[in-house]
Amino acid sequence: MPGQRYSILSILLHWTMALAIALAWGGAQLAEALGRGPTKSLVVGSHALLGLAVLALLLPRLLARWLGTVPGPAPGAPAWEQRLATAAHLLLYALMLALPLSGLLTALTGRAPFDLAGLATLPNSLAGTGLRGLVKEAHEVLANLMLGAIALHVGAVAWHAIVRRDGVAARMMPGASPSA
Ligand code: HEM
Repeated sequence: MPGQRYSILSILLHWTMALAIALAWGGAQLAEALGRGPTKSLVVGSHALLGLAVLALLLPRLLARWLGTVPGPAPGAPAWEQRLATAAHLLLYALMLALPLSGLLTALTGRAPFDLAGLATLPNSLAGTGLRGLVKEAHEVLANLMLGAIALHVGAVAWHAIVRRDGVAARMMPGASPSA
């Protein structure tokens, strides 16, 4: 429905998860630049905690979406654009599940138990499976896919806000009026 916006819970979860994904990504880049040692372990552990937060918030996010207000398609959007938007959103949800899960498998297949920034330790219970290389590769590919999907998503939001000026971008903004 034009003029409507997402529920406040959906908006809160959207921005909390967006921040956690951005920080997890940044942490992974920083970790790659660091040599082995306690600082790298802390950064990788914090990265994993942020990723696990994304995983934990996914079900509440989906429930908030299904049970709360969902604005309809963008006003005047052609059918192909609506289909593309639905496919892009489904891809983002699938990646919010698959990316943290592949990270978790990467941690569980490590040579030693995985330190979650001093808060907890994950056992390396899958260390003997020989899957380490595969799941680490999958985690990297999924992270790159996530980056591409986010770039498409941000591009579409900018298109609505700057070119179409149809109020679609404001539907997920805290405090903004969604009217065009
Ligand atoms: C939104 C969630 C996440 C994002 C965006 C993300 C992103 C990334 C990226 C970009 C890398 C570097 C890949 C490479 O080039 O080799 C990486 C590495 C890694 N991630 Fe994640 N990740 C996420 C969640 C997780 C979770 C939940 C865990 C574990 C519970 C995890 C554990 C790891 C580990 C162990 C590495 C390898 C670090 C190293 O040894 O250098 N990740 N992640």
